[in-house]
Amino acid sequence: MGKVGIWMYQNGGGDRIEQKLVSLLEDLGHEVITGINLRHAVAESGKMIWNEMDLYELDCFFSYNAGEQTRYQVYLYGVLDRHVPCINNYQAFSISEDKFQTNDMLRAAGVPTPDYFLCHREDVERIRAKVMEWGKAVFKTVDGWGGMGMALVDSKDKLDMILPFLNQTDLRFFYIEKFIDYDGSDYRIDLVDGEFVACYGRKAKEGDWRTNVTSGGSVILRECEPEVIELAKKAAKAIGIEIAGVDIIYDRAHERYIVLEVNGIPAFATPEQEAMGLDFNDKKIEKIVRLIDRKVKEKR
Ligand SMILES: Nc1ncnc2c1ncn2[C@@H]1O[C@H](COP(=O)(O)OP(=O)(O)O)[C@@H](O)[C@H]1O
Ligand SMILES: [Mg+2]
Repeated sequence: MGKVGIWMYQNGGGDRIEQKLVSLLEDLGHEVITGINLRHAVAESGKMIWNEMDLYELDCFFSYNAGEQTRYQVYLYGVLDRHVPCINNYQAFSISEDKFQTNDMLRAAGVPTPDYFLCHREDVERIRAKVMEWGKAVFKTVDGWGGMGMALVDSKDKLDMILPFLNQTDLRFFYIEKFIDYDGSDYRIDLVDGEFVACYGRKAKEGDWRTNVTSGGSVILRECEPEVIELAKKAAKAIGIEIAGVDIIYDRAHERYIVLEVNGIPAFATPEQEAMGLDFNDKKIEKIVRLIDRKVKEKR
C-alpha cells in the first residue's frame, strides 16, 4: 500500500500513541516512517531529502508535534504540502496557528467568536477608543499559546501602562478581543475528519481568568450538549481542518456558546488524564488511522 511519514510528539505518552498508530497502519499494509523532523530535511532541485529519503515520495505526512516546531520546519511543511497530502493540511494548520486569522474565518462562516480588533501599532488612538468602548479587553499575540503573551486591560491606567511597553516589542500590529464574561471553565471538543471524538473541559485556577493548564488551570471531565458539538464541527469546517481541538466558552452576557480558538494539534490524553477517566485515545487513534488510509488511497 502506501508510504506514510509521521512526526509526532513523544512526551506525555505521545510515544505510546505513535506506536499504536504505526501498528494499525502496518496492519492495513502501509509502510510507516516515524521521526520525520523537517528541521533536519534539506530541499534540493525538486526533492526534499530527509535521512537519505525523498519526502515527495510519501503518500501522506502526519505532522503532530506542537512543542518542537521551528520556523524552518513549518516553512518546509508548507512546501511539502504541495506535493504530499499532509494532515493537517498546511493551509488549515497555518490559519489555526493564528488567532486573528482563525476568528476572521469563523466570523465569515457565522460562528460566534469574541469581538476582535486588529490595527497597525501606530494606530494607538483606535486601540484606545476600542478598549474604552468595550471596557474590558484582552491583548493577545496572534500566535501565542498556553495562555501566555496575553494581558487583560480593564482600565485607562492599565492601558496607559501597557501601550508604551507594547511599543518596545517587535509586534507590527495589535490584536485585541473583547473580554467575555464566562464562568472560568471551558469545553474542549476533539474532532477528527469532521467527527466527534471527545469532550472535556478545563477550569481556571482561583483568581485567574485563563483556563489553560500551563496557567494553572485543571482538566475536568464534562459532558456536553449536542449544540456545543455542532458548534465545534462548524468551526473546524470553517477553517477546513481535519484534526481539531475546539475551545468553547459560555458567554453569560449574551447567553450563548462562543468559540475561542481552534487547536490544530490537540494533545491526546496523558497517562495521568487517562487515569482520571479521559478515555478517548483509542477512538481518536482509530479515526486518524482511517483518515490517513483514505488520504493514501485518494493519492494512489
Ligand atoms: N476574549 C476572552 N474573554 C475571556 N477570556 C478569554 C478570552 N480570550 C481568552 N480567554 C481565556 O484565556 C485562555 C487562553 O486564550 P486563548 O485565546 O485560547 O489562547 P492560548 O492559545 O494561549 O490558549 C482561554 O482558554 C480563556 O480561558
Ligand atoms: Mg486556548
